[in-house]
Amino acid sequence: STNRVHRIAVIPGDGIGKEVMPEGVRVLEAAAKKFGFKLAFDDFDFASCDYYEKHGRMMPEDWKEKIGTHDAIYFGAVGMPDRVPDHISLWGSLILFRREFDQYINLRPVRLMPGVPSPLANRKPGDIDFWVVRENTEGEYSAIGGKMFPGTDREVVVQETVMSRVGVDRVLKFAFELARSTPKKHLTSATKSNGIAITMPYWDERVKEMAKNYTDVKWNQFHIDILTAHFVMNPDRFNVVVASNLFGDILSDLGPACTGTIGIAPSGNINPERNFPSVFEPVHGSAPDIFGQGIANPIGQIWSGAMMLEHVGEHDAAAAIVKAIETVLSQDKLRTRDLKGPASTSECGKAVAAALG
Ligand code: NAI
Ligand code: MG
Repeated sequence: STNRVHRIAVIPGDGIGKEVMPEGVRVLEAAAKKFGFKLAFDDFDFASCDYYEKHGRMMPEDWKEKIGTHDAIYFGAVGMPDRVPDHISLWGSLILFRREFDQYINLRPVRLMPGVPSPLANRKPGDIDFWVVRENTEGEYSAIGGKMFPGTDREVVVQETVMSRVGVDRVLKFAFELARSTPKKHLTSATKSNGIAITMPYWDERVKEMAKNYTDVKWNQFHIDILTAHFVMNPDRFNVVVASNLFGDILSDLGPACTGTIGIAPSGNINPERNFPSVFEPVHGSAPDIFGQGIANPIGQIWSGAMMLEHVGEHDAAAAIVKAIETVLSQDKLRTRDLKGPASTSECGKAVAAALG
């Protein structure tokens, strides 16, 4: 019914974020109209280098109040390295969202789309279609450690991997739930328990334990080294792949790389409990090299919008957007320049909205 209203914070950010965001919003509005729900968009100009140059900081002090109660955050890209150093722009915005909003899931679909040449030989659309679920808050990326005797012959550095039962179980639960919701009902765990002999056997133990709650899900595990080889050699074998922070970081770049251009890859930084809003954003950055030409591919932004609708419970609309993306990508004249097509950013975006019917 039309009583369903989702409040969305819209943050285009920098560079091509400002060009692809209007196309994302256009497609979301078309989907809302077609599927009978409402989207209440609130636009924000912070988390951008323009904002930084005006205010001396990336976001206002009360940014958490401003966007903390929305149902989701729709984000473009941040970074203008010639104007503001990347560590300031990224750590002052995106990284704060992920930390302060406890977005412990990083979710990326890996799907070979029509019209997008795969760097892997002899693969066609349908052959590659899976999800990478990355733990986003702990694991190998910890702040525990230090440096002793710096600058001397005794110099020593230590950085500890941190795996908590809460932290491991919650990402595994999300991944098993996702696997259960898919037709293949299969899950793969990335491990390295033969070499990393304390934390990774613990990860494996928690996988085994969690699997007991999901007897309808078949699962297996691979050590990370052979798993990366399988991503390239046998990508058709995967459905849901769950991994620690470091392994997931690698797999969530390798997967989309196997399916073509960075211009179409979407992602979600998710707090599944919905205690905080989740952020949906394209994988690509602000692309200063093509900004202002109207040629950026809007599909990554649009597909991220579909993931956002899935998150707020609009499953039919989400599926319809992905289908509309496939329809558009399969036509040469509707593709943008990165895919050897003639379409502008807005021509491509309008075509996706039109394909929704
Ligand atoms: P980038 O992803 O912005 O660009 C890499 C290359 O891909 C460029 O040649 C660009 O033209 C092309 N490209 C990217 N998106 C495209 C699209 N939608 N359509 C067509 N071509 C596209 O990565 P780069 O150049 O390393 O970083 C630029 C800025 O973006 C930096 O400040 C960086 O820190 C930031 N960045 C931000 C991210 C985010 O907001 N999540 C992620 C990655 C980078
Ligand atoms: Mg990465």
